[in-house]
Amino acid sequence: MNTSKTTVAVIGLGNIGKAIATNLVKGNHSVILASRDNEKTKSLAEQLGNLATSKEIVDAIKEAEVIIPAIYFNALKDFFQTFSKELDGKIIIDVSNPIAPDGNGGFKKIIAENESAGKILSDLIPKNARLIKAFGTLGAGSLLNSAFNEPDKKVLFYASDSTNSRQQIEELITSSGFVPFNVGGIDQSIKIEVFGDLHEFGALGKPVTLAEAKSKISHS
Ligand SMILES: NC(=O)c1ccc[n+]([C@@H]2O[C@H](COP(=O)([O-])OP(=O)(O)OC[C@H]3O[C@@H](n4cnc5c(N)ncnc54)[C@H](OP(=O)(O)O)[C@@H]3O)[C@@H](O)[C@H]2O)c1
Repeated sequence: MNTSKTTVAVIGLGNIGKAIATNLVKGNHSVILASRDNEKTKSLAEQLGNLATSKEIVDAIKEAEVIIPAIYFNALKDFFQTFSKELDGKIIIDVSNPIAPDGNGGFKKIIAENESAGKILSDLIPKNARLIKAFGTLGAGSLLNSAFNEPDKKVLFYASDSTNSRQQIEELITSSGFVPFNVGGIDQSIKIEVFGDLHEFGALGKPVTLAEAKSKISHS
């Protein structure tokens, strides 16, 4: 493992977890994988090659500086409680979109219109942990397909109150084949969550370049 880079663990290897891990490896960044299913974890690690290692969830959290629980919003509170000791002092990236099927083939928000998962979860994280909202702005397909775009890379937005976690999140976004773009503190998460101004399934509509993102923001 290349120890000069930020150590990162992706926990939960569904659609978005797999896409995040795949992009990191493609960008030559080591990644620790973990899930509740060790066989699934090992199989993905083998598929991704030497830069991916599989661990038990608890060991993955202990070993990494940055933890990406790629799981549902509703499961995150329990996740924080179960691993509160191991998560102490870590940077946690929240990718979640607080939605559920609406029964008509679409999705509805499961928190109030003016609330964001990022803000709610920032009050629930274990002590000394820092929460960054990132990697949830694009659907898993777009996250894979628009990474490493040439000639102009696409943007991944993030929101964070922690200025001293900037280097790690920007490094991870860059390794993933995107340009990092800070939209402000965690209270700005709503913009980059589903239905938000800067979400693929909101006013943004598609992955955008840095120039397009700046233009979008100056006109909003
Ligand atoms: N899919 C997208 O396009 C997309 C885009 C942006 C953001 N997101 C967000 O990403 C999160 C995951 O979505 P997804 O589409 O990747 O879902 P998914 O394909 O259903 O995968 C969810 C994964 O979470 C794991 N999981 C659930 N509860 C867990 C727990 N308590 N501890 C550990 N692992 C747990 C599941 O593991 P098991 O296999 O063990 O059940 C499963 O592998 C959601 O919050 C979603 O809003 C998704």
